[in-house]
Amino acid sequence: MVITKICCLGAGYVGGPTCSVIALKCPNIRVTVVDKNEERIRQWNSDKLPIYEPGLDEVVKKCRGTNLFFTTDIVKSIEEAELIFISVNTPTKISGNGKGRAADLKHVENAARMIAEIAKGNKIVVEKSTVPVRAAQSIMKILKANVSPGINYQILSNPEFLSEGTAIADLLGADRVLIGGEESPEGQKAIKELCWVYEHWIPSERIITTNTWSSELSKLAANAFLAQRISSINSLSAVCEATGADVSEVARAIGRDSRIGHKFLEASVGFGGSCFQKDILNLVYICECLNLPEVAAYWQQVIDINEYQKSRFTKGIIESLFNTVSDKRIAIFGFAFKKNTGDTRESPAICVSKRLLEEGAYLQIYDPKVDAEQIDYELEGASKKYEIHTSAMLSAVNAHAIVICTEWDEFKELDYNVLYDVMMKPAYIFDGRKILNHEHLTNIGFQVKTIGKRLHNGESTGMWETC
Ligand code: UDX
Ligand code: ADP
Repeated sequence: MVITKICCLGAGYVGGPTCSVIALKCPNIRVTVVDKNEERIRQWNSDKLPIYEPGLDEVVKKCRGTNLFFTTDIVKSIEEAELIFISVNTPTKISGNGKGRAADLKHVENAARMIAEIAKGNKIVVEKSTVPVRAAQSIMKILKANVSPGINYQILSNPEFLSEGTAIADLLGADRVLIGGEESPEGQKAIKELCWVYEHWIPSERIITTNTWSSELSKLAANAFLAQRISSINSLSAVCEATGADVSEVARAIGRDSRIGHKFLEASVGFGGSCFQKDILNLVYICECLNLPEVAAYWQQVIDINEYQKSRFTKGIIESLFNTVSDKRIAIFGFAFKKNTGDTRESPAICVSKRLLEEGAYLQIYDPKVDAEQIDYELEGASKKYEIHTSAMLSAVNAHAIVICTEWDEFKELDYNVLYDVMMKPAYIFDGRKILNHEHLTNIGFQVKTIGKRLHNGESTGMWETC
């Protein structure tokens, strides 16, 4: 079989950018991205795409209407395609068995049922969404139980490793592409077909093929390892604050060991995003189900330290502001879970904001890429004592403190002399991302607090005085 038509179920953060790059690099393949959400598809076909991702607009503009299509016509797209990506969302279950930990596979199951119902010819079905180990087996069961005579399915696992904010660069220059499939001759043939698609732009030595379960587990393991590094350095940031060591210096010193490496050692207010927490919770749940409680407890600690870091940071803000933030105006700089994205899923800003609102603060929130509707959605159920601003400068007016939650570059370039003038005194800055020039800010007159380092601001020496 030669792949001429690809269908992708799910036009989200994974499906949209991935298929746009496939269309760009494979001009002879017709790529159709479908979604049951009409509004999302309308946005993909408009000038304002539903997600902000540097470089994505250009790729979509180049391919849309040529060999890249966005549509809600799921039936036609499944019928026509030889290869179908499943890129639907797999949120953490909110009720029932495994509540709060297991991945909810209802959208994957629905997608499999739709394929079984519609397909009239052989299909290669590729799971792209992060799924629990052995999910491919469930997809296969559904497809096989509903198969029409003469139709063959092959299920492959092809997890996506892109990071938001750098998705296009990650897709174009992937460290590796991972494809898992059955060890049978048919499975190996399907793997080869998918390899052929990626070989349009990825050197074949960077394409790793494994059995299905290794591929599924590798995705969870990769995210668990990355998140573990952040929790490890964040745990040390607390030690630095207590001792006078500087976490950036520690990260630089250990990162120079080539066995450790320098990436993902940036201490912060905590990690966010749609993957890390969800995937580790999922891994923990799987370990418990496999009767491996020690392994489950080990990975759970990565989540626990992340929670600790977010609440430690917020507690430090409250303590520094004379143990009360009631009716104090606090500017929140950044609401996305990292820079260069408008995504707020599991953003540490949500946790910090909610906690400050609980304590009676009045928040003045600004993020360059997150719209007001999204902030309202994330803060639903919390006190309404907040307003959303269109610039960092406006959000700082009359504020007692600025809290940096996202490392947007524009926050580094602001004129802090002017900000100081419009704020209440003493004016505080809590740099949860370690992006500002703290010495310069202290010279202006700010009381500055950051993660993993004691700063000398006149009256106080410790970063977060412990009580
Ligand atoms: C992650 C994985 O990197 C990617 O491979 C996978 O496909 C999806 O999950 P993503 O969540 O988009 O990607 O962003 P990432 O750059 O990994 O950042 C995740 C969180 O960790 C962010 O909140 C970020 O600010 C934080 N982080 C990252 C740190 O706090 N310190 C670091 O050193 C690196
Ligand atoms: P991710 O970050 O994994 O890409 P998103 O939530 O951004 O997750 O995107 C998943 C998309 O999948 C959503 O737009 C959702 O509407 C879509 N979706 C979920 N189930 C189906 C389905 N059965 N058919 C088509 N699209 C689906």
